[in-house]
Amino acid sequence: MNIDKVRELDHQFLFQNYGRQDLCFERGEREYLYDLAGRRYLDLVAGIAVNSLGYSHPDIVRAVCEQAGRLIHVSNLYLVKEQAMAAEALVSIAPEPLGAVMFCNSGAEANEAALKLAVKSTGRGRVVSTRNSFHGRTSITLSATGQPKYQSGFEPLLPKIFDFIDYGSVEQLKSAVTKDTAAVIFEPIQGEGGVIPASEEFFRTARDLCDERGALFIVDEVQTGMGRTGRWFGFQHSNVVPDIVTLAKALGSGLPIGACLSAREIASAFKPGSHGTTFGGNPLATAAARTTIEVMKRDKLVERSAELGGRWAQELRSIAVQGGKVSDVRGKGLMLGLEMGEEAKRFQEYALNKGILVNVCGGRVVRMVPPLIIGEESMGELNNALREFLGA
Ligand SMILES: Cc1ncc(COP(=O)(O)O)c(C=O)c1O
Repeated sequence: MNIDKVRELDHQFLFQNYGRQDLCFERGEREYLYDLAGRRYLDLVAGIAVNSLGYSHPDIVRAVCEQAGRLIHVSNLYLVKEQAMAAEALVSIAPEPLGAVMFCNSGAEANEAALKLAVKSTGRGRVVSTRNSFHGRTSITLSATGQPKYQSGFEPLLPKIFDFIDYGSVEQLKSAVTKDTAAVIFEPIQGEGGVIPASEEFFRTARDLCDERGALFIVDEVQTGMGRTGRWFGFQHSNVVPDIVTLAKALGSGLPIGACLSAREIASAFKPGSHGTTFGGNPLATAAARTTIEVMKRDKLVERSAELGGRWAQELRSIAVQGGKVSDVRGKGLMLGLEMGEEAKRFQEYALNKGILVNVCGGRVVRMVPPLIIGEESMGELNNALREFLGA
Protein backbone atom coordinates (compact mmCIF):
# COMPACT_ATOMS: atom_id res chain seq x y z
CA MET A 1 0.00 0.00 0.00
CA ASN A 2 1.37 3.46 -0.81
CA ILE A 3 1.00 6.64 1.25
CA ASP A 4 -1.80 8.02 -0.97
CA LYS A 5 -3.98 5.04 -0.13
CA VAL A 6 -3.19 5.27 3.60
CA ARG A 7 -4.10 8.98 3.61
CA GLU A 8 -7.35 8.23 1.81
CA LEU A 9 -8.33 5.49 4.31
CA ASP A 10 -7.31 7.71 7.22
CA HIS A 11 -9.51 10.59 6.05
CA GLN A 12 -12.41 8.32 5.21
CA PHE A 13 -12.48 6.10 8.29
CA LEU A 14 -10.63 7.71 11.19
CA PHE A 15 -11.57 10.53 13.55
CA GLN A 16 -9.51 13.52 12.43
CA ASN A 17 -8.31 14.24 15.96
CA TYR A 18 -4.56 14.32 15.23
CA GLY A 19 -2.64 16.95 13.27
CA ARG A 20 -0.64 14.25 11.53
CA GLN A 21 2.45 14.90 9.44
CA ASP A 22 2.22 13.43 5.97
CA LEU A 23 4.58 10.55 6.70
CA CYS A 24 3.93 6.84 7.06
CA PHE A 25 6.41 4.29 8.32
CA GLU A 26 6.78 0.67 7.42
CA ARG A 27 9.48 -0.51 9.79
CA GLY A 28 12.23 0.57 12.15
CA GLU A 29 15.69 -0.51 13.22
CA ARG A 30 17.74 1.00 16.06
CA GLU A 31 17.19 4.80 15.85
CA TYR A 32 16.02 4.67 12.24
CA LEU A 33 12.56 4.54 10.71
CA TYR A 34 11.84 3.61 7.08
CA ASP A 35 8.80 5.01 5.27
CA LEU A 36 6.57 3.16 2.81
CA ALA A 37 8.81 4.19 -0.07
CA GLY A 38 11.92 2.91 1.75
CA ARG A 39 13.35 6.33 2.70
CA ARG A 40 15.35 6.29 5.94
CA TYR A 41 14.80 8.79 8.78
CA LEU A 42 16.85 9.40 11.90
CA ASP A 43 14.21 9.41 14.64
CA LEU A 44 14.86 11.79 17.53
CA VAL A 45 11.21 11.63 18.62
CA ALA A 46 11.07 7.89 19.43
CA GLY A 47 7.27 7.73 19.54
CA ILE A 48 7.45 10.71 21.97
CA ALA A 49 9.91 9.20 24.44
CA VAL A 50 8.53 5.67 24.11
CA ASN A 51 11.05 3.70 22.05
CA SER A 52 14.04 4.02 24.36
CA LEU A 53 15.52 0.75 23.12
CA GLY A 54 15.05 1.85 19.51
CA TYR A 55 13.17 -0.16 16.91
CA SER A 56 13.16 -3.93 16.55
CA HIS A 57 15.37 -4.48 19.59
CA PRO A 58 16.11 -8.23 19.46
CA ASP A 59 15.46 -8.82 23.18
CA ILE A 60 12.09 -7.06 23.04
CA VAL A 61 11.08 -8.80 19.82
CA ARG A 62 12.01 -12.17 21.32
CA ALA A 63 10.25 -11.53 24.65
CA VAL A 64 7.06 -10.27 22.97
CA CYS A 65 6.94 -13.09 20.40
CA GLU A 66 7.57 -15.77 23.01
CA GLN A 67 4.98 -14.31 25.37
CA ALA A 68 2.41 -13.90 22.57
CA GLY A 69 2.88 -17.56 21.77
CA ARG A 70 2.24 -18.55 25.38
CA LEU A 71 -0.36 -16.15 26.77
CA ILE A 72 -1.30 -12.63 25.64
CA HIS A 73 -4.04 -11.82 28.09
CA VAL A 74 -5.55 -13.23 31.21
CA SER A 75 -7.87 -11.45 33.63
CA ASN A 76 -6.80 -9.73 36.82
CA LEU A 77 -9.30 -12.11 38.43
CA TYR A 78 -6.27 -14.43 38.64
CA LEU A 79 -2.65 -14.20 39.72
CA VAL A 80 -0.58 -13.03 36.76
CA LYS A 81 3.00 -14.32 36.77
CA GLU A 82 4.50 -11.82 34.31
CA GLN A 83 2.80 -8.91 36.12
CA ALA A 84 4.28 -9.97 39.46
CA MET A 85 7.74 -10.31 37.92
CA ALA A 86 7.50 -6.91 36.20
CA ALA A 87 6.47 -5.31 39.51
CA GLU A 88 9.51 -6.87 41.23
CA ALA A 89 11.76 -5.51 38.45
CA LEU A 90 10.23 -2.03 38.72
CA VAL A 91 10.60 -1.92 42.50
CA SER A 92 14.25 -3.01 42.10
CA ILE A 93 15.04 0.28 40.30
CA ALA A 94 12.94 2.52 42.57
CA PRO A 95 14.20 4.03 45.83
CA GLU A 96 12.51 3.11 49.10
CA PRO A 97 9.77 3.32 50.19
CA LEU A 98 8.33 2.98 46.64
CA GLY A 99 7.59 -0.71 46.97
CA ALA A 100 4.15 -1.41 45.45
CA VAL A 101 2.98 -1.21 41.83
CA MET A 102 -0.37 -1.07 40.03
CA PHE A 103 -0.25 -1.49 36.27
CA CYS A 104 -2.59 0.17 33.77
CA ASN A 105 -2.47 1.00 30.06
CA SER A 106 -1.32 4.59 29.61
CA GLY A 107 0.10 7.66 31.25
CA ALA A 108 -3.29 9.26 31.76
CA GLU A 109 -4.53 6.14 33.50
CA ALA A 110 -1.44 6.05 35.70
CA ASN A 111 -2.15 9.64 36.80
CA GLU A 112 -5.83 8.85 37.19
CA ALA A 113 -4.89 6.02 39.57
CA ALA A 114 -2.40 8.23 41.43
CA LEU A 115 -4.94 11.01 41.98
CA LYS A 116 -7.68 8.64 43.07
CA LEU A 117 -5.24 6.91 45.41
CA ALA A 118 -4.22 10.24 46.96
CA VAL A 119 -7.84 11.28 47.51
CA LYS A 120 -8.76 7.89 48.96
CA SER A 121 -5.78 7.56 51.23
CA THR A 122 -5.89 11.10 52.66
CA GLY A 123 -9.66 11.53 52.71
CA ARG A 124 -9.11 15.02 51.23
CA GLY A 125 -10.45 16.47 48.02
CA ARG A 126 -8.11 19.11 46.58
CA VAL A 127 -4.99 18.76 44.45
CA VAL A 128 -2.27 21.30 43.67
CA SER A 129 -1.09 21.16 40.06
CA THR A 130 1.08 23.43 37.95
CA ARG A 131 0.37 25.74 35.04
CA ASN A 132 1.77 24.68 31.68
CA SER A 133 1.73 21.03 32.81
CA PHE A 134 0.49 17.99 30.93
CA HIS A 135 -0.95 14.98 32.74
CA GLY A 136 -3.27 13.34 30.20
CA ARG A 137 -6.62 13.54 28.42
CA THR A 138 -9.05 11.71 30.65
CA SER A 139 -11.38 14.08 32.46
CA ILE A 140 -9.51 14.10 35.78
CA THR A 141 -6.07 14.30 34.17
CA LEU A 142 -7.30 16.94 31.74
CA SER A 143 -8.54 18.89 34.75
CA ALA A 144 -5.05 18.54 36.24
CA THR A 145 -3.45 19.78 33.03
CA GLY A 146 -2.57 23.46 33.34
CA GLN A 147 -3.04 24.43 29.70
CA PRO A 148 -6.38 25.90 28.53
CA LYS A 149 -5.74 24.81 24.93
CA TYR A 150 -6.24 21.17 25.91
CA GLN A 151 -9.28 21.94 28.09
CA SER A 152 -11.24 24.29 25.90
CA GLY A 153 -14.55 22.86 24.71
CA PHE A 154 -14.67 20.33 27.54
CA GLU A 155 -15.74 22.66 30.37
CA PRO A 156 -17.00 22.31 32.97
CA LEU A 157 -14.21 19.89 33.67
CA LEU A 158 -15.06 17.36 36.30
CA PRO A 159 -14.14 17.19 39.03
CA LYS A 160 -13.01 20.75 39.70
CA ILE A 161 -10.55 19.90 42.42
CA PHE A 162 -7.36 21.47 41.15
CA ASP A 163 -5.53 24.52 42.48
CA PHE A 164 -3.01 25.76 39.92
CA ILE A 165 0.31 27.41 40.70
CA ASP A 166 3.18 28.57 38.50
CA TYR A 167 5.60 25.72 37.83
CA GLY A 168 8.67 26.34 39.98
CA SER A 169 7.12 28.96 42.27
CA VAL A 170 8.08 28.03 45.82
CA GLU A 171 6.06 30.93 47.23
CA GLN A 172 2.84 29.91 45.45
CA LEU A 173 3.38 26.30 46.49
CA LYS A 174 3.62 27.37 50.12
CA SER A 175 0.28 29.12 50.05
CA ALA A 176 -1.49 26.51 47.88
CA VAL A 177 -0.90 23.45 50.07
CA THR A 178 -3.48 23.44 52.86
CA LYS A 179 -5.15 20.99 55.23
CA ASP A 180 -7.58 20.17 52.40
CA THR A 181 -4.84 19.21 49.96
CA ALA A 182 -4.73 15.51 49.09
CA ALA A 183 -1.75 15.83 46.77
CA VAL A 184 0.71 17.98 44.90
CA ILE A 185 1.42 16.75 41.36
CA PHE A 186 4.05 17.90 38.89
CA GLU A 187 6.51 16.71 36.23
CA PRO A 188 10.26 16.78 36.99
CA ILE A 189 10.67 18.38 33.55
CA GLN A 190 7.55 19.74 31.87
CA GLY A 191 7.63 17.84 28.59
CA GLU A 192 4.67 18.93 26.47
CA GLY A 193 5.00 22.39 28.06
CA GLY A 194 8.42 22.91 26.43
CA VAL A 195 11.16 20.87 28.20
CA ILE A 196 11.25 22.97 31.36
CA PRO A 197 13.05 21.46 34.38
CA ALA A 198 11.93 22.07 37.99
CA SER A 199 14.54 23.31 40.47
CA GLU A 200 15.77 21.17 43.34
CA GLU A 201 14.29 23.79 45.69
CA PHE A 202 10.82 23.29 44.17
CA PHE A 203 11.11 19.53 44.80
CA ARG A 204 12.42 20.03 48.36
CA THR A 205 9.65 22.49 49.18
CA ALA A 206 6.95 20.17 47.80
CA ARG A 207 8.32 17.28 49.87
CA ASP A 208 8.56 19.33 53.08
CA LEU A 209 5.12 20.92 52.68
CA CYS A 210 3.45 17.59 51.95
CA ASP A 211 5.09 16.09 55.06
CA GLU A 212 4.17 19.08 57.21
CA ARG A 213 0.57 19.41 56.01
CA GLY A 214 -0.34 15.73 55.50
CA ALA A 215 -0.60 15.75 51.69
CA LEU A 216 0.93 13.26 49.26
CA PHE A 217 3.58 14.19 46.72
CA ILE A 218 2.91 12.72 43.24
CA VAL A 219 5.59 12.98 40.57
CA ASP A 220 4.46 12.40 36.98
CA GLU A 221 7.34 10.50 35.38
CA VAL A 222 5.35 9.42 32.33
CA GLN A 223 7.77 11.23 30.02
CA THR A 224 10.85 11.65 32.23
CA GLY A 225 10.93 8.15 33.74
CA MET A 226 12.84 5.03 32.75
CA GLY A 227 16.23 6.64 32.32
CA ARG A 228 15.19 9.41 29.95
CA THR A 229 16.85 12.17 32.02
CA GLY A 230 19.99 10.23 32.92
CA ARG A 231 18.59 8.79 36.15
CA TRP A 232 15.97 6.05 36.36
CA PHE A 233 13.51 8.72 37.54
CA GLY A 234 13.61 12.47 36.98
CA PHE A 235 13.01 13.17 40.68
CA GLN A 236 16.37 11.54 41.46
CA HIS A 237 18.11 14.73 40.31
CA SER A 238 16.73 16.18 43.53
CA ASN A 239 17.31 14.67 46.92
CA VAL A 240 13.72 13.77 47.67
CA VAL A 241 11.51 10.75 47.10
CA PRO A 242 7.82 11.30 46.26
CA ASP A 243 4.96 9.30 47.74
CA ILE A 244 3.52 8.28 44.39
CA VAL A 245 5.22 8.03 41.00
CA THR A 246 3.55 7.47 37.63
CA LEU A 247 5.13 5.89 34.57
CA ALA A 248 4.12 4.87 31.05
CA LYS A 249 5.71 5.67 27.65
CA ALA A 250 9.15 3.94 27.72
CA LEU A 251 8.12 1.36 30.32
CA GLY A 252 6.94 -1.20 27.78
CA SER A 253 9.13 -0.32 24.76
CA GLY A 254 5.96 0.40 22.74
CA LEU A 255 3.54 -2.06 24.32
CA PRO A 256 0.77 0.04 25.93
CA ILE A 257 1.45 0.02 29.67
CA GLY A 258 1.41 2.49 32.54
CA ALA A 259 2.23 2.10 36.21
CA CYS A 260 1.51 3.78 39.50
CA LEU A 261 4.15 3.19 42.20
CA SER A 262 3.83 4.05 45.85
CA ALA A 263 4.79 2.98 49.32
CA ARG A 264 2.95 -0.18 50.38
CA GLU A 265 1.20 1.68 53.18
CA ILE A 266 -0.30 4.25 50.77
CA ALA A 267 -1.21 1.55 48.23
CA SER A 268 -3.22 -0.20 50.93
CA ALA A 269 -5.93 2.49 50.58
CA PHE A 270 -6.96 0.58 47.44
CA LYS A 271 -8.81 -2.56 48.51
CA PRO A 272 -9.96 -5.32 46.15
CA GLY A 273 -12.48 -3.59 43.90
CA SER A 274 -11.36 0.00 44.64
CA HIS A 275 -9.69 0.43 41.27
CA GLY A 276 -8.71 -1.71 38.31
CA THR A 277 -8.64 -2.23 34.56
CA THR A 278 -9.28 -5.18 32.25
CA PHE A 279 -6.01 -4.98 30.32
CA GLY A 280 -3.79 -3.37 32.98
CA GLY A 281 -0.64 -5.40 33.50
CA ASN A 282 -1.52 -8.15 31.07
CA PRO A 283 1.14 -10.80 30.40
CA LEU A 284 2.22 -9.39 27.04
CA ALA A 285 2.71 -5.80 28.20
CA THR A 286 4.38 -6.79 31.47
CA ALA A 287 6.73 -9.25 29.73
CA ALA A 288 7.82 -6.29 27.57
CA ALA A 289 8.24 -4.06 30.63
CA ARG A 290 10.33 -6.58 32.55
CA THR A 291 12.54 -7.19 29.51
CA THR A 292 12.92 -3.43 29.00
CA ILE A 293 14.19 -3.02 32.57
CA GLU A 294 16.55 -6.02 32.24
CA VAL A 295 18.03 -4.73 28.98
CA MET A 296 18.41 -1.21 30.37
CA LYS A 297 20.26 -2.54 33.43
CA ARG A 298 22.44 -4.92 31.41
CA ASP A 299 23.39 -2.33 28.78
CA LYS A 300 23.72 0.52 31.30
CA LEU A 301 21.37 2.73 29.28
CA VAL A 302 20.59 5.10 32.14
CA GLU A 303 24.29 5.92 32.45
CA ARG A 304 24.44 6.23 28.66
CA SER A 305 21.54 8.69 28.69
CA ALA A 306 23.34 10.86 31.28
CA GLU A 307 26.69 10.70 29.54
CA LEU A 308 25.61 11.17 25.91
CA GLY A 309 22.90 13.66 26.82
CA GLY A 310 25.29 15.79 28.87
CA ARG A 311 27.81 15.87 26.04
CA TRP A 312 25.16 16.55 23.41
CA ALA A 313 23.72 19.48 25.37
CA GLN A 314 27.20 21.04 25.49
CA GLU A 315 27.68 20.58 21.74
CA LEU A 316 24.24 22.03 21.06
CA ARG A 317 25.04 25.03 23.25
CA SER A 318 28.24 25.71 21.38
CA ILE A 319 26.41 25.49 18.04
CA ALA A 320 23.47 27.56 19.31
CA VAL A 321 25.56 30.60 20.25
CA GLN A 322 26.43 31.08 16.57
CA GLY A 323 23.12 31.72 14.86
CA GLY A 324 21.09 33.86 17.26
CA LYS A 325 18.01 31.73 16.58
CA VAL A 326 18.30 29.46 19.66
CA SER A 327 17.76 31.35 22.90
CA ASP A 328 18.16 28.37 25.25
CA VAL A 329 19.25 24.73 25.30
CA ARG A 330 17.56 22.88 28.17
CA GLY A 331 16.97 19.45 29.57
CA LYS A 332 18.67 16.53 31.23
CA GLY A 333 20.07 13.31 29.84
CA LEU A 334 18.51 12.50 26.48
CA MET A 335 15.54 14.83 26.97
CA LEU A 336 16.66 18.04 25.34
CA GLY A 337 14.90 21.14 24.11
CA LEU A 338 16.00 24.03 21.91
CA GLU A 339 14.04 27.21 22.60
CA MET A 340 13.62 28.67 19.11
CA GLY A 341 10.37 30.64 19.08
CA GLU A 342 8.98 30.97 15.56
CA GLU A 343 12.02 29.20 14.14
CA ALA A 344 11.13 25.91 15.88
CA LYS A 345 8.60 24.80 13.26
CA ARG A 346 10.89 25.96 10.48
CA PHE A 347 13.74 23.87 11.88
CA GLN A 348 11.44 20.85 12.21
CA GLU A 349 10.70 21.15 8.47
CA TYR A 350 14.35 21.74 7.63
CA ALA A 351 15.41 18.64 9.59
CA LEU A 352 12.67 16.56 7.99
CA ASN A 353 14.01 17.47 4.55
CA LYS A 354 17.35 16.08 5.71
CA GLY A 355 15.66 12.89 6.92
CA ILE A 356 15.71 13.77 10.62
CA LEU A 357 12.61 13.67 12.82
CA VAL A 358 12.33 16.15 15.69
CA ASN A 359 9.20 17.46 17.29
CA VAL A 360 8.01 20.86 18.47
CA CYS A 361 6.47 21.15 21.92
CA GLY A 362 5.04 24.17 23.67
CA GLY A 363 4.75 25.72 20.19
CA ARG A 364 8.31 27.06 20.30
CA VAL A 365 10.71 24.37 21.53
CA VAL A 366 12.38 21.72 19.39
CA ARG A 367 12.30 18.58 21.51
CA MET A 368 14.69 15.66 21.19
CA VAL A 369 13.89 12.47 23.05
CA PRO A 370 15.74 9.87 20.94
CA PRO A 371 16.18 6.18 21.66
CA LEU A 372 18.72 5.82 24.49
CA ILE A 373 20.70 3.44 22.26
CA ILE A 374 21.34 6.26 19.77
CA GLY A 375 24.79 6.29 18.16
CA GLU A 376 27.09 9.31 18.46
CA GLU A 377 27.16 9.72 14.68
CA SER A 378 23.39 10.27 14.76
CA MET A 379 23.80 13.10 17.24
CA GLY A 380 26.36 14.52 14.81
CA GLU A 381 23.78 14.38 11.99
CA LEU A 382 21.42 16.62 13.97
CA ASN A 383 24.29 18.93 14.95
CA ASN A 384 25.23 19.38 11.29
CA ALA A 385 21.64 20.11 10.31
CA LEU A 386 21.34 22.68 13.09
CA ARG A 387 24.64 24.30 12.15
CA GLU A 388 23.52 24.60 8.54
CA PHE A 389 20.08 25.92 9.54
CA LEU A 390 21.58 28.56 11.80
CA GLY A 391 24.13 29.58 9.18
CA ALA A 392 21.50 29.82 6.45
C1 LIG B 1 4.05 14.01 31.66
C2 LIG B 1 2.94 13.28 30.97
N1 LIG B 1 1.94 12.78 31.71
C3 LIG B 1 0.93 12.10 31.14
C4 LIG B 1 0.87 11.91 29.79
C5 LIG B 1 -0.28 11.15 29.18
O1 LIG B 1 0.15 9.89 28.79
P1 LIG B 1 -0.73 9.04 27.74
O2 LIG B 1 -0.72 9.75 26.46
O3 LIG B 1 -0.03 7.70 27.70
O4 LIG B 1 -2.09 8.93 28.35
C6 LIG B 1 1.90 12.41 28.98
C7 LIG B 1 1.86 12.23 27.51
O5 LIG B 1 2.51 12.91 26.76
C8 LIG B 1 2.96 13.11 29.58
O6 LIG B 1 3.96 13.63 28.86
